[in-house]
Amino acid sequence: MEAKRFKIRRNIWLTEKLYLLELEGSFNQTPIPGQFVHIKIEPFFLRRPFSIAGYKDNYLKILYRIAGRATDILAQKKEDELLGLIGPSGNGFPVNKKWENVYLAAGGTGIAPLLFLAETLKKKNCNITFFYGARTSDCIAFNILPYGVNYVFSTDDGSYGYKGLVGDILKRYIMENGVPDVIYSGGPYEMLRKIAEISKKYNLSAFVSLENRMACGVGICYGCVTKIKCKDGWEYKRVCKDGPVFNTEEVLWE
Ligand SMILES: Cc1cc2nc3c(=O)[nH]c(=O)nc-3n(C[C@H](O)[C@H](O)[C@H](O)COP(=O)(O)OP(=O)(O)OC[C@H]3O[C@@H](n4cnc5c(N)ncnc54)[C@H](O)[C@@H]3O)c2cc1C
Ligand code: FES
Repeated sequence: MEAKRFKIRRNIWLTEKLYLLELEGSFNQTPIPGQFVHIKIEPFFLRRPFSIAGYKDNYLKILYRIAGRATDILAQKKEDELLGLIGPSGNGFPVNKKWENVYLAAGGTGIAPLLFLAETLKKKNCNITFFYGARTSDCIAFNILPYGVNYVFSTDDGSYGYKGLVGDILKRYIMENGVPDVIYSGGPYEMLRKIAEISKKYNLSAFVSLENRMACGVGICYGCVTKIKCKDGWEYKRVCKDGPVFNTEEVLWE
């Protein structure tokens, strides 16, 4: 992990409050899917964490939604401006060459790390089914979705794809089409909990990217902790340092 300045190449509006930021720069360590960067957005003292949505040839992609004041300022940044990044941070998704039939389950901006993961898994010739849930059809940015992947869309209001929540759709899909070798997921906590329930029921390997609020982002303040099972019951683990990716089995879901 290191601090570097990256140059904005594109910062484009996609849909609703969703933006794609393309940054030029590099870290000494090549990022892997599931890792994140901590971005300094002036005038805020605390950096803001964002999953790496893609990395290739010194270009790093971030997919972000305007959620508050810092992301609002980020959306106004222009080409050629510099941004201070710390990264690549966190552990990333584990990949096993035996896992060929893969389900990706994304809700909202939780899709960001899975876009990067899908590109990596495609190179390994995995058979990928991508479950993508959004509030309405207006929230889906179709133009950033990777090719060569089987999509199962859903929306809360049924305006595109199935009507319902990603977890329920995925459960039904498993009943009709069988189990995958692994599930990777990113999205709201409730959705990740549902993925954990499904993986337990079918005895599947499943990994989730948690998005706890962060302060230092480098493992010092313990402001981002989550409860992880251990032999004595549970212990706190830092999402920024020990995660953000966890096996669903080890998380103490609350
Ligand atoms: C590991 C990690 C990866 C992330 N990846 C992405 C990503 O790829 N794209 C993206 O759009 N966002 C991502 N986030 C969330 C992003 O960091 C927050 O949306 C951002 O920090 C909000 O800053 P703000 O100042 O605009 O909003 P604030 O003013 O700080 O907050 C506005 C609202 O957003 C909520 N909020 C703030 N931070 C979080 C958070 N971490 N989780 C849930 N709700 C939050 C607050 O409770 C508040 O309601 C990620 C978070 C983590 C921890
Ligand atoms: S944010 Fe400080 S330890 Fe994770």
